[in-house]
Amino acid sequence: MTKKPVVIGVAGGTGSGKTTVARELYQQFIEKSILMIEQDAYYKDQSHKTMDERIKTNYDHPLAFDNDLLIEHLEQLLIYQTIEKPIYDYSNHTRAKESVYVKPKDVIILEGILILEDKRLRDLMDIKLFVDTDADIRIIRRLVRDIEERGRTLESVIEQYTSIVRPMHLQFIEPTKRYADIIIPEGGQNRVAIDLMVTKIRTILEEKEIL
Ligand code: CTP
Repeated sequence: MTKKPVVIGVAGGTGSGKTTVARELYQQFIEKSILMIEQDAYYKDQSHKTMDERIKTNYDHPLAFDNDLLIEHLEQLLIYQTIEKPIYDYSNHTRAKESVYVKPKDVIILEGILILEDKRLRDLMDIKLFVDTDADIRIIRRLVRDIEERGRTLESVIEQYTSIVRPMHLQFIEPTKRYADIIIPEGGQNRVAIDLMVTKIRTILEEKEIL
């Protein structure tokens, strides 16, 4: 049997705690061989657009992502080839000039709001998780994060949330829960779910004779 990495998808709405779940899993396998890919890194390049056009972009729509490139990179990682992952700049709403080389590993965690929306991506995953956190908690987290880390104002976060993020969540993200193998309530705080996942990943690695 040819050796092939395990791909774990971590989906969920904005502020649901996807990053925390992904990091918790990452920590458990750091001694072995694991890498993390954020779908956000694959937002389409908008450097040719004006700042005003970039601000008006709908970042919660499936078409905002360059999934073709993401799939190409995943396929390379699955045959143990190094990729050149884009870096996304939230303050300038576009791809940064720099990129980062990512070496292949045995476990790949793919994290993002819409990773379960594209069948081509789903088909590449061994395990599909959906982090399910109440909307009030998610918007509180988003407000704090966008103001502290992404250079936004309170007004802009509220406006974007009500006009775009919330309707897109209901139309495109929430329905992808049906594709999840496991729905994790409250994300990274859910110790039992994390421990179960770690055990399952180990089993798959053993089956694939990777560990
Ligand atoms: N986004 C934005 N401006 C951009 C690009 C993306 O405001 N230029 C927002 C989108 O509106 C989308 C969000 O980024 O809703 C996606 O990131 P999110 O899922 O909130 O962050 P993660 O850290 O990946 O997830 P979590 O909070 O669940 O850990």
